[in-house]
Amino acid sequence: MAILISGSGSNMVALADSMTGDHPARPCLVLANSADAGGLAKAAARGIPTAFVDHRPYKGDRAAFEVDLARVLDAARPDILCLAGFMRVLTGGFTARYQGRMLNIHPSLLPKYRGLDTHARALAAGDAEHGCTVHEVTAALDDGPILGQARVKVLPGDTPETLAARVLVQEHALYPAVLRRFAAGDRRVVRLP
Ligand code: GRF
Repeated sequence: MAILISGSGSNMVALADSMTGDHPARPCLVLANSADAGGLAKAAARGIPTAFVDHRPYKGDRAAFEVDLARVLDAARPDILCLAGFMRVLTGGFTARYQGRMLNIHPSLLPKYRGLDTHARALAAGDAEHGCTVHEVTAALDDGPILGQARVKVLPGDTPETLAARVLVQEHALYPAVLRRFAAGDRRVVRLP
């Protein structure tokens, strides 16, 4: 399975470190959209092949960027793709190419708060509960079939940063749990805690 990242790669590390023993999957590539993604070094330190396709030279031409992204991906022949803090919005053409085998983690209890700033929006709405979701990727942003959700209580005095930190801990438990099932062909929804 291939993992796509944009930043520090903490979810990538959680996924990679979970794929041991009788786990049905193994990482074959960590791919970033920038050479500066901190997760690349963490992947290399784990002996996982890494690559990057910098999106900036494409000046917003997503289709052209995705042609090169797919070329690098397909050379690694992944069965499953996991978006893990990958911050580029993908076109319908790209999501169709990997339909049914591409997952994403999103820091909210979908369908609530698609898009960005999910923690601040949950706090602004006065929600008592928040969390994260793993879903299949489709053409609609943050919208595909849900494969797992983890919930956290919103605490008095929470800020977007303190809430994000507690959600991230749940992300690192949820994504590996979903991947282990998904890689075994089991699409039953994982619910944490
Ligand atoms: C995570 O909260 C993830 O849900 C979101 O981006 C954040 C980045 O995490 N998409 P990571 O440390 O780069 O995996």
